[in-house]
Amino acid sequence: MKGIILAGGSGSRLYPITKVYSKQLTIIYDKPLIYYPLSVLMLGGIRDILIISNDETIPLYQKLFGDGRHFGVNIEYARQAAPNGIAESFIIGEQFIGKDPVSLILGDNIFYGYLDFFYRGIANTAPGATVFGYRVTDPERYGIVEFDQSGKVLSIEEKPLKPKSNFAVPGLYVYDNRVIDISKNLRPSGRGELEITDVNKTYLEMGELRVEKIGRGVAWLDTGTPEALLQASNFFGVIEERQGLKIACIEEIAFYKGFISKAEFAKLIEATPKSMYRSYLERVLSEAE
Ligand code: DAU
Repeated sequence: MKGIILAGGSGSRLYPITKVYSKQLTIIYDKPLIYYPLSVLMLGGIRDILIISNDETIPLYQKLFGDGRHFGVNIEYARQAAPNGIAESFIIGEQFIGKDPVSLILGDNIFYGYLDFFYRGIANTAPGATVFGYRVTDPERYGIVEFDQSGKVLSIEEKPLKPKSNFAVPGLYVYDNRVIDISKNLRPSGRGELEITDVNKTYLEMGELRVEKIGRGVAWLDTGTPEALLQASNFFGVIEERQGLKIACIEEIAFYKGFISKAEFAKLIEATPKSMYRSYLERVLSEAE
């Protein structure tokens, strides 16, 4: 399974925060936002990851992650010339994806909790797509999925004026390899974008769209407004301080998942500047000894 993080876009809604750097680099409590979606892919065992962004931001991500080797993953970068839509990820990423299935996460989507819904989506090798449904109070802002009483999917609509349900489709998707061709055959929507919802509709029409509801024990957080960013920071601050454990700490996840050995983890820590983050990694290492 290949992984893609779509982390471009203009971020204009968060101006002036996003005047000089991209939304996915804004800080959520103690680390840049993009750490959170990256950690989700890594927790899913995905080690081949493509970050898609614009010319100005790719060098910043490269500074953050390099080629990922030091934390046991392979990170590549690709350019999106303009925000032409989420589904363009699969056209830009065609060579990177090759013949494999692919999981896409939006660089501004945060998930916290037991990610078993995602692990099941990845493990399912049947042809088709797996997306998720998460209950929200403001469905007109998202892709919305409608179920019948038996849980069968009836429709999926992008930002409907009259939503048929409260179940939003979060920015985390698992597709078989046909997603490349499906995306190539899309036409831009009214807002001029290749819509991910149109990809999902195509799978629905083929009878191959699986939608799994995410339970209430999982947090899918919004990052669309300054208030939402503050709430997310507070949320992670409270949990990290209470438990003394970091969330979305990619070095710890790499070690915990066996992507790097203990010796490699120790080396990585040595290269980390003296900071609270480094002290945390040292503690993780010493507790593993
Ligand atoms: O967050 C989940 C929602 O994401 C889904 O429920 C919707 O179905 C889906 O269309 C999308 O909704 P938005 O319209 O809110 O997505 P937005 O345009 O804000 O883009 C999401 C992120 O992806 C954002 O950080 C910018 C980045 N992006 C977006 C587009 C369209 C790109 O890097 N390139 C793009 O071309």
